Amino acid sequence: MRPIQLFDPDSSTYTYVLFDVATREALIIDPVDLQLERDLAVLREYGLKLVWTVETHAHADHITSAGKLAEHAGARTAAPAACGITTASRQLQDGDELVFGQQKIRALATPGHTAGSMCFTWEVEGQRHVFTGDTLLINGCGRTDFQSGSPEALYHSLTEVLFKLPEDTIVWPGHDYQGRTHSTIGQEKASNARVAGKTLEEFVAIMNSLQLPKPRRMDEAVPANLRSGLRHDADGAWLRHPRPAVGYAGDVSPQLAWDWVQSGEALLVDVRTDAEREWVGFVPGAIPLAWKQWPGMVPNPGFDAGIQELGARGKKLLMLCRSGARSIAAAKRATELGFEAYNILEGFEGDPDSAAQRGRKGGWRFHGLPWRQN
Ligand SMILES: [Fe+2]
Repeated sequence: MRPIQLFDPDSSTYTYVLFDVATREALIIDPVDLQLERDLAVLREYGLKLVWTVETHAHADHITSAGKLAEHAGARTAAPAACGITTASRQLQDGDELVFGQQKIRALATPGHTAGSMCFTWEVEGQRHVFTGDTLLINGCGRTDFQSGSPEALYHSLTEVLFKLPEDTIVWPGHDYQGRTHSTIGQEKASNARVAGKTLEEFVAIMNSLQLPKPRRMDEAVPANLRSGLRHDADGAWLRHPRPAVGYAGDVSPQLAWDWVQSGEALLVDVRTDAEREWVGFVPGAIPLAWKQWPGMVPNPGFDAGIQELGARGKKLLMLCRSGARSIAAAKRATELGFEAYNILEGFEGDPDSAAQRGRKGGWRFHGLPWRQN
């Protein structure tokens, strides 16, 4: 049993699909946005149900498809907690495990290439594998000259974490530029040109003299990867400013709403029902105040009192609902009560597409803004 190794020629990135033979549950490591269709085809071909997408770090050379795989294949997203990928639903710490069927991988904190970088070990049928991302490459290692990289930390991660694994552990790197597919811990310990037999000082000197060019897609890739690869920059410039509206202060894009919440000038008020928040997901820090409540979707008799209390805090009020309809009604009511209230366009899930599926045409989640599921 080996991982399925897939290659993106544009960025020389390896993506790995691991699965449990018995249940067909699968996990994907470092998926690439441009290869989304290929990866979905692999899942179909093998009859797999994707349960996790996992990142080894926030990449600078390609954009992850994690967010899209979550929407299309129903997977949950996981990423190292120290990488700042705020959209990932599982924030991994050293030693954490991700389970798929009867299998599991284990996270190893290996800072150095980036401060949050992790490797993942997998033991199956008596064989140990390690997925090393950009921490350990075949006869090489990831660079340490940007993105919170540290040659000292990388030396420690290589020699004190990865090289402490059994020598026959199979190494599956995040990249290879020369067509090599895998290696072993024993082989890298013995002959890796950067680190084998080197002292910390020698390693740091090598890493600091590399003078590598900046990755081609870095400026685009890093911000996108901090949001699981979902971008929110596709729309017009009006998104950066509220759009005037009749009966309330204005319409704002989800991104602008989030900027206002983060800067402390606004409160995010989730006017959906308790059931919607429970089932579909919620925005961390948003204040729940239903406009209508299930069962029956009768108007919430406590809405006005709730708004009075929130409005008294002296901040803008931003109304969020499912697709941007209830939130208009709620913003109008809050305006009548004397407060500066805005409607968040597209809502949490956006409008349905031609197949009646929500979440693919817009909305808070589609734009990759932070949200969680219980
Ligand atoms: Fe990287």
